[in-house]
Amino acid sequence: MAVRKDSPLIVGLGDGENFLASDIPAILNHTRRTYILQDGEIAEITANTVKVYDMDGNPVAKEVYEVTWNAEEAEKGGYAHFMQKEIFEQPKALRDTLAGRLDAENLEVNLPEIEENLEFYKSLNRIFISACGTAYHAGLVGKYLLEKLVRIPVEVDVASEFRYRDPLIGRNDLLVVISQSGETADTLAALREAKKRGARVLAVTNVVGSSVSREADDVIYTWAGPEIAVASTKAYTTQLLVMYLFALYLGRVKGTIDEKFYKEMVSGLKEIPQKVQEVLDAEDKVIEFARKHLTKEDAFFIGRGLDFAVSLEGQLKLKEISYIHAEAYAAGELKHGTLALIVKDVPVIALATQEALFEKMLSNIKEVNAREATILGIAFAGKKEIAKVTDEQIYLPRVPELLAPILAVVPLQLLAYHMAVLRGNDVDKPRNLAKSVTVE
Ligand code: G6P
Repeated sequence: MAVRKDSPLIVGLGDGENFLASDIPAILNHTRRTYILQDGEIAEITANTVKVYDMDGNPVAKEVYEVTWNAEEAEKGGYAHFMQKEIFEQPKALRDTLAGRLDAENLEVNLPEIEENLEFYKSLNRIFISACGTAYHAGLVGKYLLEKLVRIPVEVDVASEFRYRDPLIGRNDLLVVISQSGETADTLAALREAKKRGARVLAVTNVVGSSVSREADDVIYTWAGPEIAVASTKAYTTQLLVMYLFALYLGRVKGTIDEKFYKEMVSGLKEIPQKVQEVLDAEDKVIEFARKHLTKEDAFFIGRGLDFAVSLEGQLKLKEISYIHAEAYAAGELKHGTLALIVKDVPVIALATQEALFEKMLSNIKEVNAREATILGIAFAGKKEIAKVTDEQIYLPRVPELLAPILAVVPLQLLAYHMAVLRGNDVDKPRNLAKSVTVE
């Protein structure tokens, strides 16, 4: 007997066997014939019969729903590619990662994962962060947050460098490894190297039971759900979220963070899934920009501070799937070389979300504008000044500006995605790349 109540429930009609599942993909290898139960409907099932009743016990004549799509399409849930689905799943992934960690009523962050070893965390000397690819970019944002909120020096390395650089890490130091899969060979080696030298290791990973999660001392999971597309999207934003939670938590227990600011940040985090949804709703603007530039072979991303860290992730996304040569530059560094490459119509994506750096950023954008590049500006709503020096603008909904990376990366993900689709590339499986790099 089965009853559908609030959550989805379907019946698969087999030959001498019947099935119950919460979604169609689960049964597609067995049958394509299904009954989709409505809320309150009751199914009575044997190997050979299925009867459906309403709540009062009256028989319901169900129509057979014949599934016409295949398992892979089913898993894509109506999206053209896994990457697109995963980009749009971000509000949910963020909500799931916040669950149980953000006390919305008291505006507090709880991290039971590290609470048990609080004494270590309170007294640690230095933090190292090591990871690869997109996860490394999340680490760069993490450094900025931890240094600002916890006032502890933080070093970030790509794992393939960390493991061979004879790092000065030891007891009372913490290594944070970030890895979606938890299986990346270099990241795992960095973890082992740090442990060998007596450091404590905290893993931020998306896969329960992965090698990284088993070998680390402590684990904070990102609850992004399976990420199939090679180019990482929802794993990145949930990794960022964990970095915020960790920095806020540690800053509070160490007393390095102002209470009013702490509450503002926690309340901002509470809103962040909804704000990401708002950015996703502005997809058309990104598609427009992508259409105009799809034949270009170079693109530049510029920003300062947190915006620079996000720019690095933006350029990686574009390279990975659209195969356009892309570079991210700390905007202040442009004039030391890269400005020579900025010529008429080169696409430049300029991020300007940080108030203290806004004026500086505007003058960098002007430098690029003077070379007649085509500029897409990304700033918070209300920063109209940006419109005077850029060709197109994307305005982000207001959140505490330290949270900008979680929002600002979304148009960059969408830009890479649409560029790749328009150029006819295999978005989910880009050439030469693998989802999980388990060899060196
Ligand atoms: C591969 C993937 C990237 C990913 C990197 C690190 O290169 O293509 O998308 O960022 O590995 O993977 P991890 O699973 O350790 O986060």
